Amino acid sequence: MDKILVLDFGGQYDQLIARRVREMCVYAEIRYYDKITVEEIKAGGYNGLIFTGGPNSVYEKSSPHFDKAVLELGIPVLGICYGCQLLAYLAGGEVKSAENGSEYGKTEVSVKPSPLFDGVPERSVCWMSHTDFISRPPEGFAVTAATQSCPCAAMEDDGRRLYGVQFHPEVTHTEYGGRILSNFLFNICHCGAEWRAESFMDAAVERYRGELAGKRVLLALSGGVDSSVAAALLGKAVGKNLTCLFVDHGLLRKGEGDFVERTFRDAFGIDLIRVNAEARFLKKLAGVTEPERKRKIIGEEFIRVFEEEAAKLGKLAVLAQGTIYPDVVESGKGGSAVIKSHHNVGGLPSGIAFESIVEPLRELFKDEVRALGEKLGLPEKLVWRQPFPGPGLAVRVLGEVTKEKLDLLRECDAIFTDEVEKAGLGKGVSQYFAVLPGVQSVGVMGDAGTYGQTVALRAVTTDDFMTAEWTRLPYDVLDSAARRITNEVRGVSRVVYDITSKPPATVEWE
Ligand code: XMP
Repeated sequence: MDKILVLDFGGQYDQLIARRVREMCVYAEIRYYDKITVEEIKAGGYNGLIFTGGPNSVYEKSSPHFDKAVLELGIPVLGICYGCQLLAYLAGGEVKSAENGSEYGKTEVSVKPSPLFDGVPERSVCWMSHTDFISRPPEGFAVTAATQSCPCAAMEDDGRRLYGVQFHPEVTHTEYGGRILSNFLFNICHCGAEWRAESFMDAAVERYRGELAGKRVLLALSGGVDSSVAAALLGKAVGKNLTCLFVDHGLLRKGEGDFVERTFRDAFGIDLIRVNAEARFLKKLAGVTEPERKRKIIGEEFIRVFEEEAAKLGKLAVLAQGTIYPDVVESGKGGSAVIKSHHNVGGLPSGIAFESIVEPLRELFKDEVRALGEKLGLPEKLVWRQPFPGPGLAVRVLGEVTKEKLDLLRECDAIFTDEVEKAGLGKGVSQYFAVLPGVQSVGVMGDAGTYGQTVALRAVTTDDFMTAEWTRLPYDVLDSAARRITNEVRGVSRVVYDITSKPPATVEWE
């Protein structure tokens, strides 16, 4: 299969570049610049290389550099932003710091005829973010684009198939960015559009069927997208040799535990062990009010339960994890790959030894994991599940967690979910849920006064959960949710809507 190497020099868009390439059905791998050598690149069979941006200046001693022999491999190169400056520097050009400061944001660019700009009009808008600029392109390179303040916004040595753009084609603000990337992939690197997350399925099933033949595999299933897709995939590959351990800590939403059990045991025929550990977790959480302490207790208890249950199963050779590509990329930057706890609540079981670990989704981005989940036949509700914190409702019941409070919150949350879904808004809102702040307030019902719980509703819209906007849900939806909650859930006398964005608030209340 044709593939592209995204050589990461510390830019913020490394994963975005790889995703754009994969969206065009070409497989892309990201490697941090000091984790791969020229020899490995040569042996890797790449059709093209993309040098990413980065925050540095090429002349700083500490800046990420690369062996210039990479330019002699005969593999086409596209340098983006810092990657373009590095290309200029490695090929013998000159880079300077701009005297009139940085160029940042949407900028008009004019381009000259070039294989990279095939189909791109002479003038268009691109996204710039730089302080340094190429003051003298290397010998043999022609300048192919300019902006008002950047005389060399693109350059190329078409004979050697080396290209650089100072702007960011991977960002949607660059009007013809997609066209430029596709020119590089298909006209310059001659890649075939062969990559599909779905085609990954058959190859992966075959591979694990061979590699794991005769071995017993254990997977901690949380019901989240990643571990669910990993379970369905491995179930297809090794059948009854896969055992999924589902620790139900009693902090899940209404009906969630049963849904996970039904889906995997009944619909997929997977050997699923559900551990009902609610009482154990609640005992540990009794009297605890401090949020971090609650998280820690849940994480640690999870591991203890997992270890105990795994020990009962006897010798299991392989531990399977739902690690996905962004986790691999992040851990690769820091040095050795860390093993991610995919149930999201704690570390890894240290008390059990496994011969090996398999991470069947480690090459996939989240959207690809979802596509694969759909292909595997997982229910839409699971594949498009909104994120749910590992510590579950314990971080949505503020203060001490009790069964009574959890049950009340579960009912309110189910009603809110139902109303959002009924209004057809489910997929458009990134995350929505109910919170029990532990505030009692005065109300009136019939002729009698009440003193009941206040429930807060929260809905946010976001791309990456690092920042989030509170969602402007229609008043009618909020109105029906509030009416139903106060009518149907005993003990609730007031409903409020959280209208803070992140920052300054976080998505969760604890
Ligand atoms: P915050 O509250 O930090 O949440 O703005 C951002 C996103 O992360 C989720 N979240 C968690 N996920 N374990 C998880 O797996 C946790 O402890 C945790 N805390 C928050 C949150 O639901 C939101 O999607």
